[in-house]
Amino acid sequence: MRKINVFDTTLRDGEQSAGVNLNFEEKLEIAKQLERLGVDVMEAGFPASSQGDFRSVQAIANTVKGSSVTGLARSVTNDIDVAWEALKNSAEPRIHVFLATSPIHMTYKLRMTPDEVVRTAVESVKYAKAKFPQVQWSAEDASRSELPFLATIIEAVIDAGATVINLPDTVGYTTPHEIGNMFRYLTENVPNIDRAILSTHNHDDLGMAVANSLAAIQNGAGQVECTMNGIGERAGNASLEEIAVALNIRKDHYQADTGLTLKEIKRSSSLVSKLTGMIVPSNKAVVGANAFAHESGIHQDGVLKNKETYEIFTPELVGVSSNRMVLGKHSGRHAFKEKIVELGFNGTEDQLQTIFKAFKDLADKKKDVTEDDLFALMTEATVGEAVAHYELEALQVNYGTNNIPTATITLNVPSEGTIQEAATGSGSVEAIYNTLERMIDGPVILEDYRIQSINGGRDALAEVFVKIQYDGVESTGRGTAHDVLEASAKAYIHAINRTINRRAYNAERMKQLNA
Ligand code: KIV
Ligand code: ZN
Repeated sequence: MRKINVFDTTLRDGEQSAGVNLNFEEKLEIAKQLERLGVDVMEAGFPASSQGDFRSVQAIANTVKGSSVTGLARSVTNDIDVAWEALKNSAEPRIHVFLATSPIHMTYKLRMTPDEVVRTAVESVKYAKAKFPQVQWSAEDASRSELPFLATIIEAVIDAGATVINLPDTVGYTTPHEIGNMFRYLTENVPNIDRAILSTHNHDDLGMAVANSLAAIQNGAGQVECTMNGIGERAGNASLEEIAVALNIRKDHYQADTGLTLKEIKRSSSLVSKLTGMIVPSNKAVVGANAFAHESGIHQDGVLKNKETYEIFTPELVGVSSNRMVLGKHSGRHAFKEKIVELGFNGTEDQLQTIFKAFKDLADKKKDVTEDDLFALMTEATVGEAVAHYELEALQVNYGTNNIPTATITLNVPSEGTIQEAATGSGSVEAIYNTLERMIDGPVILEDYRIQSINGGRDALAEVFVKIQYDGVESTGRGTAHDVLEASAKAYIHAINRTINRRAYNAERMKQLNA
């Protein structure tokens, strides 16, 4: 059985998804979860791209010790120097340097000849190798590159010190047959290929990212790059959970497996979905809400007689618990704590107290509190904003089919005390947002608003995601509450707090740089 290394790029390529904007605390939380999942390598960001990315890559490199942490760099010395500063204290410093190799990228984007590209790639790998024990080199747009040229440049960068060679299908153009040929060709035509691990990295523009990844593995790739829930640039990247489960369930066919702790998949997926605001479609393989739902009578009958008639793997394999009702209003603090620790809680006593209170409030309104409810409360309490400039204290909405909807809101503003305001709107949510806009000194543009229920049922928790533009900056926010209007208000306030924190961080950085 071959061991396939999993290189997770949720925090780099995944974070490049349109509308996704994770902050420092959120990235750290996802990194810790990826470590629990057991990924071999996690790409924590692109350190030279911004101060924020540098800070989070550095914090992740200093915190995560069970996975190798890496950062992306262009083939320029400054990017490599900055990546070294961010990654030098990681358990196994590793850099990911890339340069495009396809005719279209070399001619129009890089404006370099193929010889110049080889020289630049070799120089950057040598420069990186003087600092990093592990150097991964990527041939951007490899799937549209000429195979003999790829063979030449790969041989040269391996001689220069690269230990992993990644061959991305950057634009999601290739097919399983073609990518298989590419990996086979390079395995057979690069003389020093045994000194490096070949890696595959696929985008999903034609919906073939997972199939292409598996075909590459069958033809020599020893590392697969992917993201949780398949998030990423444009149509996304190959989805980690689909590759991991496909390899595990079809070991007979692939003769390969990852070392992942598969039962952490569901939690990883839920965390990434909550923190990025990218909702997982219910029909999504492995982690969608319907992935184990049997609707047709014939299927239900079959499953009752023998699960394997229609179920090729159990929900438990990927951490989906069949016993979803976990606690009720009579559950005590001890049972509660045990449950949330089981769900991955490792926060402070204060956070535990906050979640317990939120649980008790919810249990008063909702008969059965499920694991998903607890997970939502836990995420809200433990991955909040570093500073809450505005806190919702009270919300009242008057709505009637023949009235003008009016919202009255009280906010707690630590620097000012309590403030109150009221405004109208053409609907309840608009009335709330018009009121908040006055209170925080708008204007605020609402670019996106999405709502979903956790688990379903008429007493379900509501989860709202918003994307706003405030102070010239785009930001996202999320809010969970038993009531949809309260969840809507919380999501908006969360987005505002995030913007203010980011502005404060940037101002502080400018001050330091100018000092
Ligand atoms: O898709 C791609 O080519 C990339 C590279 C930077 C590896 O993400
Ligand atoms: Zn990519």
